[in-house]
Amino acid sequence: MQAKYPSDSICIMTDLVLPGETNPLNNLFGGELLARMDRAASIAARRHSRRIVVTASVNHVAFNRAIPLGSVVTVEAKVSRTFKTSMEIYIDVWTEDRESGTKAKANEAIYTFVAVDETGRPVEVPAVEPQTEIEKQRYDAALRRKQLSLVLAGKMSPHDATELKALFL
Ligand SMILES: CC(C)(COP(=O)(O)OP(=O)(O)OC[C@H]1O[C@@H](n2cnc3c(N)ncnc32)[C@H](O)[C@@H]1OP(=O)(O)O)[C@@H](O)C(=O)NCCC(=O)NCCS
Repeated sequence: MQAKYPSDSICIMTDLVLPGETNPLNNLFGGELLARMDRAASIAARRHSRRIVVTASVNHVAFNRAIPLGSVVTVEAKVSRTFKTSMEIYIDVWTEDRESGTKAKANEAIYTFVAVDETGRPVEVPAVEPQTEIEKQRYDAALRRKQLSLVLAGKMSPHDATELKALFL
């Protein structure tokens, strides 16, 4: 299977924050942002694998900055690394200043998707070849995040998490 670049899978979704999507402080409701990120990540995973994909885990979400009603929000998702059947998707969320048009980073998240066949059984996916400096950094750290996610999900023993041992021991 031929390797692909992260840019081959990029999905950029831009949308407004409308009144039904906010919390009592008139900022974007967290669950709404999670859904937008899941959709964008799912499209990126599908573009990379050309398969049916399912969300296996949400590894990390940082709601660093509230996003007010009326904002223009851009969710950008790209495959950062793949393993055998799973794909790590890195998501950056930006807001856009109405007057200047300047974009500011609001949030980021990391999701794991698995490619499956029509019966839901995991299938292999192409490798990723990172190109830019940030893509290389994200690629290098992805194995650590995968092991942490598997340990937290009870699917890997901490003793087998070689990358995490290197961090803490
Ligand atoms: C995700 C799913 C396909 C994994 O199936 P499984 O029987 O556990 O299969 P495997 O153990 O072979 O795991 C498949 C891959 O997922 C990875 N994986 C599974 N759980 C994971 C987790 N919590 N975090 C990171 N990776 C995970 C495995 O490491 C493996 O990766 P690899 O092949 O690249 O090494 C299965 O659990 C599933 O269908 N879950 C429901 C998905 C869904 O409905 N999502 C929407 C939620 S509403």
